[in-house]
Order: sequence, then C-alpha cells, then structure tokens
Amino acid sequence: CLPILSVQEIVRSDAENVPERYIRNPDNRPNSTEISLVPDDHIPVIDFSLLAQGDEEERRKLEVACKEWSFFQIINHGVEEAIPKMKAAAAQFFDLPLSEKKKYAMPPDYFEGYGQDNKAEDKKRDWMDLLWLLTMPAHSRNTKYWPLAIPGFQESVEEYATEMQRVTYEILGNLSLLMGLERDFLKELHGEVKQGTRMNYYPACARPDLVYALSPHCDYTSISFILQDFDITALQIKHNEMWVPVKPIPNAISVLVGDVMESWSNGKYKSLPHRVVANVEKPRYGIISFVIPSNEAKLDPLKTMVDDDHPPLYKNGLTYIEYLLYTQTKETEEDKYVN
Ligand code: SIN
Ligand code: FE2
Repeated sequence: CLPILSVQEIVRSDAENVPERYIRNPDNRPNSTEISLVPDDHIPVIDFSLLAQGDEEERRKLEVACKEWSFFQIINHGVEEAIPKMKAAAAQFFDLPLSEKKKYAMPPDYFEGYGQDNKAEDKKRDWMDLLWLLTMPAHSRNTKYWPLAIPGFQESVEEYATEMQRVTYEILGNLSLLMGLERDFLKELHGEVKQGTRMNYYPACARPDLVYALSPHCDYTSISFILQDFDITALQIKHNEMWVPVKPIPNAISVLVGDVMESWSNGKYKSLPHRVVANVEKPRYGIISFVIPSNEAKLDPLKTMVDDDHPPLYKNGLTYIEYLLYTQTKETEEDKYVN
C-alpha cells in the first residue's frame, strides 16, 4: 500500500505552508479563469415534492434546468431529517486519528475506502481527503471499508442512502417521461442502479488561490447528488463557458447531469464540468451520491432522442465499463469521452 498523503494531516502539522504538490501552475488556478457573477436566483431550483406529485409544470422546469444548466438544487425532498445525521457521520469519521482512518485505506487498484483521489504520481493533487463507499444496492456494501466502530455511522449512512435512492428513482422517472419513455425506463436501463457515497473532506487552506479543492471534472454517472455545507460557497459549475459559484440553499441538495445521461439523451442534457475551490476560514464537507449503471449497461443514445434532425452523437454498443476504461486515457479530466 502506498503511504496516504492526508491533506488533513498536512494542515495539522503546518497550517501556513502549502506543499508544492498541491500548488497549481499559474495558468490553471481558480482565479486564472473567468468567474461569472450570475444572480443566485438564476440557478434552477426544483421543488421535489411537486415532481413527486406529478406536477407537469415542475417537470418542464426540470427539463429546462437539465438542458440549459445540467444542474439544479432540489428543495422539499424529504431527506431533511437524514441530512444532519449523515453530516455528523462524515465529520466523526474524519475526526478519527489517522491511524484509525488508515484501517479503511483504499487499496491501490480499488475505489472504495479512505484516501485521496487516485491521481498519477506526476499530477498535482487536490486539497481533499475522502471516504468512498458503495451504498446501494445493500448487498454490494463492503463493510470492511465502513468505520462501524463509530456509534450510529452505519445507521446514518444507510438512512441517507435509502432516502437518496428514493430521490434518484423519482428524478430518473421524471427524466424518462421528459424523453418520451415509460417512467421506469431509465431506471431499468441502468441494469442494477448502483449508488456510491463519497464523503469529501476539504481542510481550510492558507492559500486557496493556489490550489483546487477539487479539479475541474465531469462525473462518470447518470446523475450525481451533492450535499454541501450550507454556509460555504465553494462549488463552481460551468455555464456558458464561464465558472459560476453556487451558493447553497439551506437544506437543498444539488443535482448534476453526468456523462452517461449525456449519451443516453443524445446530447440534449450535457454532462456538467464542475470544480471546488478551497477556503481559508474552515474545513468543508461535500457528500456525493453517485448514480452508476451496471458494467454491462449500454450507453447508446435512446431511440426517442434520435431522428433526422438529431443524428446519434455517441457511438452505439459502448458498455459502461468500456467507457470507464476509456476515461482513464483522457488528457484532462474535463475532456468528454465523446470528442
Ligand atoms: C464533487 O464534484 O465530487 C464534489 C462537489 C463538492 O464537494 O461540492
Ligand atoms: Fe463531481
């Protein structure tokens, strides 16, 4: 096992200096790109309870959000009670001493566990530690990566995962209807709908201008959910070629379109480049629920999204696992697999 370079430990031993490995080249820093100060209320907000009631106007708002922003925040989702418990579970894990956290270390060739993003040795690192767990379906859980000694950890994560699965199915159901399909179509297209839960810990940073908390990237999911700290603006999304900071709405959950949905929708809903900036004030948590198809699922554009005016933009027959292998050869994380 490679030694884990915990950012949390780096900051604990020296909070003033940022090691070279994390300092970005001047042309690739948060401030070297254009920030767009879009008024906060322009970023779409979807009332989940209306979607769940079958409200057609809200479903049309969802369509506009996916098409024009690839992003929206949901309110009234029913996860409100599970959120503080999930956040407490993540905080308790990262509060453990390093020697304890290392018991759950991510192996070199596997994605679950405690560690950092698996970046090549010559790449700059992100200002973040993480714990990645497969959370759905229940039989896919590998509890050896779960810090079960933390009282309530398992219950809190399971409750949040279950709530997020309900939310996932409702969003997929609505997207199916918007694409002219039966409600269950997208869910079934996943094969088995898998859910990964990734807890990101971003320590406070003395020089947020020099680092990325999380480099610009697109997600390898159909859709992703991000539970943010509600009092810190750190997530930025790309919109009209500019980076837009997202101010979290208290109790809302952010949703974004990933690569898989881009292909299924034949480019109508584009996968969203996003990134996270560090801050000097205090640590931040990001809790992400990844919605992932089975390895054998095909990424072909759906028939209802292809016609004479919309020829297929993505190749047929590509499976999810083939796509994943392809993404590992990408030049930059922002490159899409399609071009
Ligand atoms: C992510 O894109 O995986 C993290 C988002 C966040 O921490 O807000
Ligand atoms: Fe992401």
